Amino acid sequence: MKEVNSISVVGLGKLGLCTASCFAQKYKVIGVDIDRDKIDLINQGKTPISETGLSEMISKYKENLKATTDYRRAILNSQVTFIVVATPSEADGTFSNKQLEVALKQIGAALREKQAYHLVVITSTVMPGTTEHVAKFVLEETSRKKCGKDFGIAYNPEFIALGRVIRDFLNPDFILIGEMSEKDGQILEDIYKNTCENTPRFGRMNLVSAEIAKISLNCYITMKITYANSLASICEKVPGADASVITSAIGLDSRIGKKYLKPGLGYGGPCFPRDNVAFAAFARKVGVKAKLAEMVDEVNRDQVTRIAKIINDLSVGNGPANSSDKKTKEETVIGVLGLSYKPNTHIIEDSQAIDIVQQLINEGYKLTVYDPQAQGLAKSVFGDSVRYTNSSKECMRLADVVLITTPWEEFKDIDLSGCKKDLAVLDCWNLSKDRELGINIRYLGRG
Ligand SMILES: NC(=O)c1ccc[n+]([C@@H]2O[C@H](COP(=O)([O-])OP(=O)(O)OC[C@H]3O[C@@H](n4cnc5c(N)ncnc54)[C@H](O)[C@@H]3O)[C@@H](O)[C@H]2O)c1
Repeated sequence: MKEVNSISVVGLGKLGLCTASCFAQKYKVIGVDIDRDKIDLINQGKTPISETGLSEMISKYKENLKATTDYRRAILNSQVTFIVVATPSEADGTFSNKQLEVALKQIGAALREKQAYHLVVITSTVMPGTTEHVAKFVLEETSRKKCGKDFGIAYNPEFIALGRVIRDFLNPDFILIGEMSEKDGQILEDIYKNTCENTPRFGRMNLVSAEIAKISLNCYITMKITYANSLASICEKVPGADASVITSAIGLDSRIGKKYLKPGLGYGGPCFPRDNVAFAAFARKVGVKAKLAEMVDEVNRDQVTRIAKIINDLSVGNGPANSSDKKTKEETVIGVLGLSYKPNTHIIEDSQAIDIVQQLINEGYKLTVYDPQAQGLAKSVFGDSVRYTNSSKECMRLADVVLITTPWEEFKDIDLSGCKKDLAVLDCWNLSKDRELGINIRYLGRG
C-alpha cells in the first residue's frame, strides 16, 4: 500500500465521529452513517453529538472531513476503513454483530470494485473470534477477494472515556492492535504515530488475543473499582477507619496504582458493565467459569442495595431516636444530586444513580432530583414519579436527606442555606469532606 492519506470511518456515533474528527487533523476522512440527519450536520461543519471539544474539531477540520451514506464512495476513496458501529449486548451478555455484519457486507460489495489493497479495521467492541471467523468470512464472500492478498483485516479498539474521548484518543497510554499480518499492523501503527499528540506504546498481537485483551482490560478496571467499594463497606463498620485514606496510600504502590481505586458508587455506563459481563460469557463459552468477573458484577449490583440501606438509616423516620421530626418513608423526601453515570455527560445507561433512585421509589420514598445534563433522559425513565428541580440548591432545599451520586464539579460547593435544619447528607464521593458543614453528613467508606 502507498503511504496512507485517506481514511474512512463507518458509524459516526459517540466514538466513531470523534475518531473521524481526530484522523481529520492529518488525513482526508470520509465518514459513513445510515443517519441522514447526522450526515447533513457533519457536512455543515456541525456536530450531532455532545462531546468535549468535538464541535471545535469538526468545524476546524471540515475541509478534511466529509460524511456520506454511500459506502461505495467512502471505500473507493480511502485506503483504510475503521468500523465503529454499535454492538449492543444480547441477553446472554455477548455482543450483537447485527450492525457490524450489515456494514461488512456493504464494505465487501464496494471492495469488489477496488483494485488497490484496502485495510478494514474493526474498532467496535466484539466477542473474541469475531474478526477472524465472522468479519473475514463476510468480507471475502461479498468482495469475492482474498483476505491477506487483496485486502487486510485488523482489530483495533479504543480505550476512551466519554466526556474526554478526543483527549484520550489523541493521548493514549497504549494502542492495541490485533493483526493478521505484520504489514497491516504497521499501517495502523504509522497512522497512530502520525495522529497522536503523545508517543504511544503499542500492544501488537494476533486478532483473538487483541479481542480478549480489550474486554479483559475493562474487566480488570471493574475489579479495581469493586475492590475499593468492598473495602469501603468494611471500613464503614469500623469506627475511625477511612477507606479513601487507605486507597490513596495503597495506590502509591506501583503494583497497584491510584486510578479507579477509591470508594464511591459502583461502576456504570455503556462500557464497563457490559464488557465485564461479556468477558464472563466468553469464558463460559470456552468452558471456563470466570468466577472473579461474575463476582465483580454481583458485588457491583449489590452497591445499589447498600446505598439504599444507608439512606434508610439516615432518613428521619428510621433515624436517630432523638430526631425531633419523625416522618414515615412516604413523607420523607430524598434529594438526589446526579443521575448520569459519571460527570460531564448526559448518559444514564447502566447508571447506578438511576438504579438507586428506582430502588428508593420502590421503597416508597418521595424523590426530588437534579442533574446538570441528564434530566432529559431521566424523564424517559421515571416520568412523573420523581420531582425534577432546576438546581442543586432547589433540590437540597426540598429534601430531608440528600444523596450525592455523581461527582459533578458544581456539587463540591453545596450550599446549605434554606435547607431543612435536620438535613442529612450521604456524600458518595467525599466531595465535601474538607468542609465543616455542621450537618449530619456521611461519607462512603468512613466508619
Ligand atoms: N462510546 C464509548 O464510550 C465506547 C468506548 C469504547 C468502545 N466503544 C465501542 O464502539 C462501538 C460504537 O459505540 P458508540 O458508543 O460510538 O455507538 P453509537 O450507537 O453512539 O454509534 C453507532 C453509529 O453507527 C451508526 N450505524 C449503525 N448501523 C450502521 C451501518 N450499517 N452503517 C453505518 N453506520 C451505522 C449509527 O447510526 C450510529 O451513528 C461499540 O462497539 C462500542 O462498544 C464505545
